[in-house]
Amino acid sequence: MEGDNVVTFHLYRYRLLMKKPICLTGIKPTGMPHLGNYLGAIKPAISMAATGKYDCFYFIADYHSLTTIHDAKLMREYVYEVAATWLSMGLNPDQVTIYRQSDIPEIMEMNWILSCFTAKGHMNRAHAYKAIAAENTQNGRDVDQGINMGIYGYPVLMASDILFLQTNFVPVGADQLQHIEIAREIVSSFNAIYGEVLTPPEAMVQSETLVPGLDGRKMSKSYQNTIPLFLPEKKLQKLINKIKTDSLPPEAPKDPSDSLIFDLFKFFSTKAQQDDLAAWYKKGIGWGEAKAELFKVINVALTEPRAKYEELMANPALIDNILDEGAAKVRPKAAEFLKSVKVATGMSR
Ligand code: ADP
Ligand code: TRP
Repeated sequence: MEGDNVVTFHLYRYRLLMKKPICLTGIKPTGMPHLGNYLGAIKPAISMAATGKYDCFYFIADYHSLTTIHDAKLMREYVYEVAATWLSMGLNPDQVTIYRQSDIPEIMEMNWILSCFTAKGHMNRAHAYKAIAAENTQNGRDVDQGINMGIYGYPVLMASDILFLQTNFVPVGADQLQHIEIAREIVSSFNAIYGEVLTPPEAMVQSETLVPGLDGRKMSKSYQNTIPLFLPEKKLQKLINKIKTDSLPPEAPKDPSDSLIFDLFKFFSTKAQQDDLAAWYKKGIGWGEAKAELFKVINVALTEPRAKYEELMANPALIDNILDEGAAKVRPKAAEFLKSVKVATGMSR
């Protein structure tokens, strides 16, 4: 985001128009959401909705998952897991429209239209595609091995998700900034020809620092270093015990600013709790003790949502109902806006 001024400006402008700015974000169902997804995307999005200042649309990006998940049973399971995560972490479906991407076919029409205004060069430069291509080259494989057209065109689909609802703000983790930038480029190309039809979106990034995973790299399903949100207590504890540490003896003073355990602890604790733990570090803490402290704060934060999550997962029909209602609210808006885009391009009257 270019700064708080942009937000203030939009809120002011929309108040004059007697409308609320649109806030939208999506999560790919590719596995149970983890602490990184929660802190980087889900929590900020739920906090934005709670202000009541935005009209919020949060969705399950199953078309995006289809680029990599080719197992129907898993796909179904992951969609429920992501929906249940939003709902158990505090999303209120009376305040936020939550839906499944594939229930909105208008997104696909938008995707084609926008792809005709997307420079191929942008796709070549997109981080996610570039990373796979580079890994192929490094390992002596064909540069395109394992890359389907869905992966290549991923940023256009993401732009479609955002633009079909005339979104103003997109709460995401810092790793998604390039995608929002591409969406803005597409808006510029389209609007340069047809006038102010598409709305340029603003990314809202909570923090530039990504949540680290068990091995110290960015926590990500792709690195298998995640702490999934809703593990049973015992498993959560076991996973936390796997966090990489050095071999300093328990009594040796330790530096909290150079500790993965402390980094994660900060996300779930008050300033006073952090000061206490930092003092213990300096005095000499055993890594087992530090991990136990981390487990305690994460477990306190997750106990209630975990119970809700389990209840929802045992009742998928309830989740389906909520997603169906969301789609029913979105589709008329989608159809109306798509029509105006088609009129602009000369395809509809
Ligand atoms: P993953 O990398 O595990 O596949 P996704 O790409 O599905 O995660 O990310 C979903 C959302 O969570 C995105 O908005 C992304 O920016 C955010 N996110 C993912 N990992 C992290 C992290 N380690 N720290 C902060 N935000 C993250
Ligand atoms: N690409 C996002 C991710 O990997 C998920 C996503 C798809 C998304 N469409 C979106 C996020 C639209 C925000 C807005 O995490």
